[in-house]
Amino acid sequence: MLSYLHGYHAGNHADLIKHITWLAVLDKLHQKTKPFSLIDTHAGAGCYPLDGEQALKTQEFKRGVALLQNWKPEHHVLQRYQQVIGDFVARQQYPGSPLISVSQLRDNDQLHLMELHPGEFERLRGAIKQYRGNGHSHVHHRDGLEGTIAMCPPKPNRGAILIDPPYEQRKEYNAVIAAVEQILKRWPQAQIVLWYPLLSERAGDKTGQSEAMCESLASLSHNVLKAELCVDDASSDTGMYGSGVCLINPAWQIDAVLTDILNELTPQMGVTATSTVRWLHQIDA
Ligand SMILES: C[S@@+](CC[C@H](N)C(=O)[O-])C[C@H]1O[C@@H](n2cnc3c(N)ncnc32)[C@H](O)[C@@H]1O
Repeated sequence: MLSYLHGYHAGNHADLIKHITWLAVLDKLHQKTKPFSLIDTHAGAGCYPLDGEQALKTQEFKRGVALLQNWKPEHHVLQRYQQVIGDFVARQQYPGSPLISVSQLRDNDQLHLMELHPGEFERLRGAIKQYRGNGHSHVHHRDGLEGTIAMCPPKPNRGAILIDPPYEQRKEYNAVIAAVEQILKRWPQAQIVLWYPLLSERAGDKTGQSEAMCESLASLSHNVLKAELCVDDASSDTGMYGSGVCLINPAWQIDAVLTDILNELTPQMGVTATSTVRWLHQIDA
């Protein structure tokens, strides 16, 4: 089932926490000159119109990136985010994770982008052709979890993986847990950023699945940190009231970075917005 299209959701509050966290991870990787590999398991189309039929139908970007217009943040990662998305937003577009990654590549860095939906894959290929940056970007038309396991450990074996499934079906949560276990067996030092939705009871049998998935990942013998941004109350009838990122093998002191970032970002997201950063498992604590 490949019915999910990110164009309906691009630039929403979930994209904000996901893409800003990803930039914070890349910022840490930039602190050493050694090249890195990035893998994006569910890359999407790469770039989305904010004035197109899909975005205008849901208007989700209005509770996301639209709230950051004219905002001048202090944290350097937030400034970088504003800089990366700035030209796109000025053209009524929002860049997906592939183009955000491309913007941060240095000459010897590698980026692997996986997308299974045929139409989204073609759009992704076009976007990467158009916005070719430094480094080496590769697009793969294949299953993102299976493809990533097959590719691990990549060369160079310093780097990060973004896992951002659509969670259309309940079984995807267990598939992610199984894939993360396989990835860590092959590439134990991989820094993994896993996005997940926080769903109210309206989501039926998917409610609570993200929380259970994070608990399972916390039982692995790795450091696991989570950061969440909620724009509504959990008891609200909004379906997805917020979302989070689970970081496995997070970089040293990124918890403090994410805390500072979310303390600055959250007030921009409206009076009901809240955020947290919390360790789920700390080996050396
Ligand atoms: C949430 S969107 C990705 C958004 C993107 N990561 C971003 O932040 O801009 C999920 C994407 O996964 C794709 N997809 C669904 N199942 C997949 C699979 N098994 N392997 C790879 N991609 C898949 C969907 O077509 C969709 O484009």
